Amino acid sequence: KRLILIGPPGSGKGTQSPIIKDEFCLCHLATGDMLRAAVAAKTPLGIKAKETMDRGELVSDDLVVGVIDEAMKKPSCQKGFILDGFPRTVVQAQKLDEMLSKQGTKIDKVLNFAIDDVILEERITGRWIHAASGRSYHNKFNPPKVLGIDDVTGEPLMQRKDDTAEVLKSRLEAFHRQTEPVIEYYSKKGLVANLHAEKPPKEVTAEVQKTLS
Ligand code: AP5
Ligand code: ZN
Repeated sequence: KRLILIGPPGSGKGTQSPIIKDEFCLCHLATGDMLRAAVAAKTPLGIKAKETMDRGELVSDDLVVGVIDEAMKKPSCQKGFILDGFPRTVVQAQKLDEMLSKQGTKIDKVLNFAIDDVILEERITGRWIHAASGRSYHNKFNPPKVLGIDDVTGEPLMQRKDDTAEVLKSRLEAFHRQTEPVIEYYSKKGLVANLHAEKPPKEVTAEVQKTLS
Protein backbone atom coordinates (compact mmCIF):
# COMPACT_ATOMS: atom_id res chain seq x y z
CA LYS A 1 0.00 0.00 0.00
CA ARG A 2 0.96 3.63 -0.49
CA LEU A 3 0.06 5.57 2.62
CA ILE A 4 0.35 9.06 4.07
CA LEU A 5 0.26 9.73 7.82
CA ILE A 6 -0.83 13.26 8.75
CA GLY A 7 -1.20 14.70 12.23
CA PRO A 8 0.18 17.34 14.57
CA PRO A 9 3.46 16.92 16.50
CA GLY A 10 3.10 14.15 19.07
CA SER A 11 -0.05 12.65 17.53
CA GLY A 12 1.61 9.20 17.20
CA LYS A 13 2.75 8.99 13.56
CA GLY A 14 6.24 7.77 14.44
CA THR A 15 4.88 5.37 17.07
CA GLN A 16 2.45 3.61 14.70
CA SER A 17 4.76 3.63 11.65
CA PRO A 18 6.98 0.63 12.57
CA ILE A 19 3.89 -1.50 13.27
CA ILE A 20 2.25 -0.57 9.95
CA LYS A 21 5.55 -1.15 8.19
CA ASP A 22 6.02 -4.65 9.63
CA GLU A 23 2.46 -5.68 8.92
CA PHE A 24 2.14 -4.37 5.38
CA CYS A 25 5.80 -4.74 4.34
CA LEU A 26 6.34 -1.16 3.32
CA CYS A 27 9.16 1.27 3.59
CA HIS A 28 8.88 4.04 6.18
CA LEU A 29 9.91 7.48 4.92
CA ALA A 30 9.89 10.09 7.69
CA THR A 31 11.13 13.47 6.49
CA GLY A 32 11.73 14.63 10.08
CA ASP A 33 13.98 11.60 10.80
CA MET A 34 15.84 12.10 7.53
CA LEU A 35 16.36 15.80 8.21
CA ARG A 36 17.56 15.12 11.78
CA ALA A 37 20.07 12.58 10.41
CA ALA A 38 21.30 15.22 7.93
CA VAL A 39 21.65 17.78 10.75
CA ALA A 40 23.61 15.30 12.91
CA ALA A 41 25.92 14.47 9.98
CA LYS A 42 26.32 18.19 9.13
CA THR A 43 25.59 17.59 5.43
CA PRO A 44 24.80 20.64 3.23
CA LEU A 45 21.10 19.76 3.58
CA GLY A 46 21.43 19.50 7.38
CA ILE A 47 23.22 22.83 7.62
CA LYS A 48 20.42 24.49 5.61
CA ALA A 49 17.63 22.87 7.64
CA LYS A 50 18.94 23.11 11.22
CA GLU A 51 17.88 26.59 12.30
CA THR A 52 14.43 26.34 10.75
CA MET A 53 13.82 23.02 12.52
CA ASP A 54 15.07 24.38 15.85
CA ARG A 55 12.50 27.18 15.56
CA GLY A 56 9.71 24.68 14.84
CA GLU A 57 9.01 26.04 11.36
CA LEU A 58 8.76 24.11 8.11
CA VAL A 59 11.83 23.86 5.89
CA SER A 60 11.38 24.84 2.24
CA ASP A 61 9.22 22.71 -0.06
CA ASP A 62 12.11 22.29 -2.51
CA LEU A 63 14.38 20.80 0.16
CA VAL A 64 11.93 18.15 1.37
CA VAL A 65 10.58 17.33 -2.08
CA GLY A 66 14.19 16.64 -3.15
CA VAL A 67 14.72 14.39 -0.12
CA ILE A 68 11.53 12.39 -0.79
CA ASP A 69 12.11 12.12 -4.52
CA GLU A 70 15.52 10.57 -3.81
CA ALA A 71 14.28 8.26 -1.02
CA MET A 72 11.33 6.89 -3.01
CA LYS A 73 13.73 5.47 -5.61
CA LYS A 74 14.95 2.84 -3.11
CA PRO A 75 14.05 -0.68 -4.33
CA SER A 76 12.34 -1.42 -0.99
CA CYS A 77 9.90 1.43 -1.64
CA GLN A 78 8.74 0.30 -5.08
CA LYS A 79 5.83 -1.84 -3.87
CA GLY A 80 4.57 0.53 -1.20
CA PHE A 81 5.53 3.06 1.43
CA ILE A 82 4.45 5.06 4.45
CA LEU A 83 5.06 8.78 4.24
CA ASP A 84 5.35 10.13 7.82
CA GLY A 85 5.50 13.92 8.01
CA PHE A 86 5.21 14.49 4.25
CA PRO A 87 3.45 16.19 2.49
CA ARG A 88 2.74 19.03 4.94
CA THR A 89 1.95 21.83 2.51
CA VAL A 90 -0.44 21.79 -0.45
CA VAL A 91 2.52 22.48 -2.76
CA GLN A 92 4.26 19.34 -1.44
CA ALA A 93 1.07 17.33 -2.01
CA GLN A 94 0.84 18.56 -5.62
CA LYS A 95 4.52 17.73 -6.23
CA LEU A 96 3.97 14.26 -4.79
CA ASP A 97 0.99 13.68 -7.09
CA GLU A 98 3.20 14.62 -10.05
CA MET A 99 5.97 12.26 -8.94
CA LEU A 100 3.56 9.37 -8.51
CA SER A 101 1.67 9.93 -11.73
CA LYS A 102 4.99 9.76 -13.61
CA GLN A 103 5.42 6.29 -12.09
CA GLY A 104 1.83 5.36 -12.92
CA THR A 105 0.89 4.99 -9.23
CA LYS A 106 -1.12 6.90 -6.65
CA ILE A 107 -1.83 7.23 -2.93
CA ASP A 108 -4.19 4.58 -1.50
CA LYS A 109 -5.05 6.14 1.86
CA VAL A 110 -4.33 9.14 4.08
CA LEU A 111 -4.47 8.37 7.81
CA ASN A 112 -5.42 11.51 9.73
CA PHE A 113 -4.20 11.37 13.36
CA ALA A 114 -6.94 13.63 14.72
CA ILE A 115 -6.28 14.88 18.27
CA ASP A 116 -6.84 17.94 20.42
CA ASP A 117 -3.85 20.29 20.87
CA VAL A 118 -4.02 20.26 24.68
CA ILE A 119 -2.96 16.58 24.90
CA LEU A 120 0.20 17.13 22.92
CA GLU A 121 2.44 19.07 25.31
CA GLU A 122 2.74 16.20 27.78
CA ARG A 123 3.47 13.74 24.98
CA ILE A 124 6.14 15.95 23.42
CA THR A 125 7.97 16.99 26.58
CA GLY A 126 8.11 13.38 27.88
CA ARG A 127 9.42 11.88 24.64
CA TRP A 128 12.82 10.16 24.40
CA ILE A 129 14.15 8.90 21.07
CA HIS A 130 16.78 6.50 19.78
CA ALA A 131 18.31 8.80 17.19
CA ALA A 132 19.74 6.16 14.83
CA SER A 133 16.48 4.21 14.35
CA GLY A 134 13.90 6.94 15.06
CA ARG A 135 12.26 4.73 17.74
CA SER A 136 10.43 6.83 20.28
CA TYR A 137 9.55 6.25 23.93
CA HIS A 138 7.70 8.23 26.57
CA ASN A 139 8.71 8.36 30.22
CA LYS A 140 5.09 7.84 31.24
CA PHE A 141 3.08 6.42 28.33
CA ASN A 142 5.66 4.11 26.73
CA PRO A 143 8.74 3.79 28.96
CA PRO A 144 11.84 1.83 27.86
CA LYS A 145 12.76 -1.27 29.90
CA VAL A 146 15.73 0.60 31.37
CA LEU A 147 15.37 4.36 31.81
CA GLY A 148 17.33 6.30 29.16
CA ILE A 149 18.32 3.15 27.21
CA ASP A 150 16.97 1.84 23.87
CA ASP A 151 15.29 -1.59 24.27
CA VAL A 152 16.68 -2.97 21.01
CA THR A 153 20.28 -1.73 20.81
CA GLY A 154 21.11 -0.85 24.42
CA GLU A 155 22.26 2.57 23.20
CA PRO A 156 21.43 5.81 25.06
CA LEU A 157 18.22 7.71 24.33
CA MET A 158 18.08 11.46 23.75
CA GLN A 159 15.54 14.27 23.64
CA ARG A 160 14.82 16.21 20.46
CA LYS A 161 15.92 19.83 20.44
CA ASP A 162 12.47 20.97 19.23
CA ASP A 163 10.60 19.05 21.97
CA THR A 164 10.08 21.99 24.33
CA ALA A 165 6.73 23.56 25.25
CA GLU A 166 7.91 26.80 23.62
CA VAL A 167 8.91 25.35 20.22
CA LEU A 168 5.81 23.13 20.25
CA LYS A 169 3.73 26.31 19.94
CA SER A 170 5.36 27.20 16.60
CA ARG A 171 5.10 23.60 15.38
CA LEU A 172 1.37 23.57 16.15
CA GLU A 173 0.89 26.91 14.45
CA ALA A 174 2.65 25.58 11.34
CA PHE A 175 0.44 22.49 11.47
CA HIS A 176 -2.82 24.41 11.62
CA ARG A 177 -1.86 27.00 9.04
CA GLN A 178 0.11 24.94 6.49
CA THR A 179 -0.74 21.25 7.00
CA GLU A 180 -4.49 21.23 7.77
CA PRO A 181 -5.19 22.39 4.18
CA VAL A 182 -3.43 19.19 3.03
CA ILE A 183 -6.07 17.12 4.86
CA GLU A 184 -8.72 19.09 2.98
CA TYR A 185 -6.84 18.48 -0.30
CA TYR A 186 -7.02 14.70 0.19
CA SER A 187 -10.56 14.78 1.61
CA LYS A 188 -11.76 16.12 -1.72
CA LYS A 189 -10.21 13.06 -3.33
CA GLY A 190 -12.01 10.80 -0.85
CA LEU A 191 -8.79 9.36 0.57
CA VAL A 192 -8.87 10.42 4.23
CA ALA A 193 -9.54 8.06 7.16
CA ASN A 194 -9.87 9.80 10.53
CA LEU A 195 -8.29 8.11 13.57
CA HIS A 196 -8.95 8.79 17.27
CA ALA A 197 -5.31 9.58 18.02
CA GLU A 198 -5.99 10.54 21.66
CA LYS A 199 -6.61 6.86 22.51
CA PRO A 200 -3.87 4.60 23.95
CA PRO A 201 -1.30 3.33 21.40
CA LYS A 202 -2.77 -0.20 21.10
CA GLU A 203 -6.26 1.14 20.38
CA VAL A 204 -4.89 3.45 17.71
CA THR A 205 -3.08 0.46 16.17
CA ALA A 206 -6.37 -1.46 16.08
CA GLU A 207 -8.07 1.44 14.29
CA VAL A 208 -5.25 1.59 11.76
CA GLN A 209 -5.51 -2.15 11.09
CA LYS A 210 -9.26 -1.93 10.65
CA THR A 211 -8.87 0.96 8.19
CA LEU A 212 -6.26 -0.85 6.11
CA SER A 213 -7.74 -4.36 6.08
P1 AP5 B 1 8.81 15.66 12.40
O1 AP5 B 1 9.93 14.84 12.87
O2 AP5 B 1 7.94 15.13 11.32
O3 AP5 B 1 7.98 16.11 13.67
P2 AP5 B 1 6.38 16.34 13.91
O4 AP5 B 1 5.52 16.35 12.72
O5 AP5 B 1 6.36 17.55 14.73
O6 AP5 B 1 5.91 15.06 14.55
P3 AP5 B 1 6.51 14.31 15.79
O7 AP5 B 1 7.62 13.43 15.37
O8 AP5 B 1 6.78 15.28 16.89
O9 AP5 B 1 5.22 13.50 16.24
P4 AP5 B 1 4.78 11.99 16.00
O10 AP5 B 1 3.36 12.06 15.50
O11 AP5 B 1 5.74 11.19 15.19
O12 AP5 B 1 4.75 11.52 17.52
P5 AP5 B 1 5.33 10.19 18.20
O13 AP5 B 1 4.71 8.97 17.59
O14 AP5 B 1 6.82 10.22 18.29
O15 AP5 B 1 9.36 17.08 11.87
C1 AP5 B 1 10.31 17.83 12.58
C2 AP5 B 1 10.69 19.09 11.83
O16 AP5 B 1 11.30 18.74 10.56
C3 AP5 B 1 9.54 20.03 11.43
O17 AP5 B 1 9.20 20.91 12.47
C4 AP5 B 1 10.13 20.74 10.21
O18 AP5 B 1 11.03 21.76 10.59
C5 AP5 B 1 10.91 19.64 9.52
N1 AP5 B 1 10.11 18.90 8.53
C6 AP5 B 1 9.82 17.56 8.55
N2 AP5 B 1 9.06 17.22 7.50
C7 AP5 B 1 8.86 18.37 6.78
C8 AP5 B 1 8.13 18.66 5.58
N3 AP5 B 1 7.46 17.71 4.91
N4 AP5 B 1 8.13 19.95 5.15
C9 AP5 B 1 8.79 20.92 5.81
N5 AP5 B 1 9.50 20.71 6.94
C10 AP5 B 1 9.52 19.44 7.43
O19 AP5 B 1 4.70 10.36 19.68
C11 AP5 B 1 5.05 11.44 20.52
C12 AP5 B 1 5.18 10.96 21.96
O20 AP5 B 1 3.93 10.51 22.45
C13 AP5 B 1 6.14 9.79 22.14
O21 AP5 B 1 6.83 9.96 23.34
C14 AP5 B 1 5.23 8.56 22.20
O22 AP5 B 1 5.79 7.51 22.99
C15 AP5 B 1 3.96 9.12 22.81
N6 AP5 B 1 2.73 8.52 22.24
C16 AP5 B 1 2.53 8.17 20.94
N7 AP5 B 1 1.27 7.68 20.78
C17 AP5 B 1 0.68 7.75 22.01
C18 AP5 B 1 -0.64 7.41 22.49
N8 AP5 B 1 -1.57 6.88 21.66
N9 AP5 B 1 -0.92 7.61 23.80
C19 AP5 B 1 0.04 8.14 24.64
N10 AP5 B 1 1.29 8.47 24.24
C20 AP5 B 1 1.61 8.29 22.94
ZN1 ZN C 1 7.62 11.64 14.27
